[in-house]
Amino acid sequence: MKILMVCLGNICRSPLAEGIMQHLADEQGLNWEIDSAGTGDWHIGQGPDRRSVCTAREHGIDISKQVCRLFRVSDFDTFDHILVMDKNNLSNVLAMARNDEDVKKVRLLLTDNKIVPDPYHDDAQFEPVYKLIEDGCREFIKNYLNHDS
Ligand code: 4NP
Repeated sequence: MKILMVCLGNICRSPLAEGIMQHLADEQGLNWEIDSAGTGDWHIGQGPDRRSVCTAREHGIDISKQVCRLFRVSDFDTFDHILVMDKNNLSNVLAMARNDEDVKKVRLLLTDNKIVPDPYHDDAQFEPVYKLIEDGCREFIKNYLNHDS
């Protein structure tokens, strides 16, 4: 299965989400490929924000080699699920959907309409954001194992 994690800059939240989901899926022996992208183009070609790299490293996950890229329409063809961090990302991605099939692939990572807030302007938010993303990824895998596998 292929899953794309999406946020705005693709340097803070979605790189963490890519690293965490890949790590947890590997732990479960799931043959999943995780990638990430952003809906904004400011940081294309750059590595993740150093605060995300450090936070992931503290949890034993290396995201330092990821490279920022823009979300593209062909991602709807490549990926089975497109998991976004907040409602801004959701509307940006849905605005590029071509049909119902594309729309059905897109959802917030967290359940119950909860969002993963942008930590870019607050160093103290990186650890809580990590935990939120980890919870969302664990829940996604649990649901998959209970219903789809
Ligand atoms: P992210 O955070 O969407 O979690 O990667 C952001 C990073 C950079 C910017 C916005 C959000 N920016 O405006 O440069």
